[in-house]
Amino acid sequence: EEPVKVGICIYQFNDNFMTLYREELQKYLEETYGAEVTVVDGKNDQNTQTDQVNSFIAEGVDVLIVNLVQATAASAVTALAQEAGIPIVYINREPSEEDMAAWEGMICYVGADARQSGSMQGQIVYELPDHGDINGNGTVDYVMIQGDMENVDAQYRTEYSIKYLTDNGVEVNKLFEQRGDWMQENGQQLAATALAQFGTEIDVIFCNNDAMALGAYQAITEAGRKMNEDIYLLGVDALDEAVDLIEKGEMTGTVLNDHIGQSHKAADVAIQVANGEPLDAYYWVDYQMITGE
Ligand code: GAL
Repeated sequence: EEPVKVGICIYQFNDNFMTLYREELQKYLEETYGAEVTVVDGKNDQNTQTDQVNSFIAEGVDVLIVNLVQATAASAVTALAQEAGIPIVYINREPSEEDMAAWEGMICYVGADARQSGSMQGQIVYELPDHGDINGNGTVDYVMIQGDMENVDAQYRTEYSIKYLTDNGVEVNKLFEQRGDWMQENGQQLAATALAQFGTEIDVIFCNNDAMALGAYQAITEAGRKMNEDIYLLGVDALDEAVDLIEKGEMTGTVLNDHIGQSHKAADVAIQVANGEPLDAYYWVDYQMITGE
């Protein structure tokens, strides 16, 4: 039997979480299914990625796994694949519901519900003895460091972390909110700016992911602040470095973004559709709270 040919498009290789994800995805496809796998770097440019999709189609891959650069490009990318009769498993950047309905049984989205990760960040803060008001002035004064707002992960984590607190009657006050596009350097810079501007007014720094939280951690340390004594810090992904900090009491919490569960599900359904079995529209993988306890 011929091996299944899988073309994988990643939005950019320079991303901590997506690096863990793509390495596991490739390894699992090769080891579990003996698939012939090619992985390409979209370099955070949708035109580059669309060219890569066209090359995979021209090579005649059996199935595509696509982590879009821009979620709004889904309809164009689906149209290209549909013309060639090649199914697509979308991962990590969720297209609109309308786009997901465009080619039933032949396209799907595998991911995690970003609302859940936001709510879990809020819940971790709510469950602290002071509900996040570490300076005791009566409100949770927070800084929000965001991913790229193209991605629903950034939109929902920003919204639902705070919503959890306000739904539970906690008063909040946004001091600072800016996008850091998931990158550690940006997290450090933005946190340093916020700390210089607002100092001890800040109770909590929320980051839409751990890479930015690791950057914020450096800025917090440089500003001489004491983690979990005069400031809280939250991320998402559960990168090893973040979990290590949490274990040492040097970061407040994170949310496991299960790259193993997501990559295995994506691989399983890619092989399934390559073998002629239709796809469901959505496959969801749960997040999980990670705290010091
Ligand atoms: C998120 C993840 C971020 C980043 C982003 C890329 O799910 O939490 O760290 O990898 O995906 O789209």
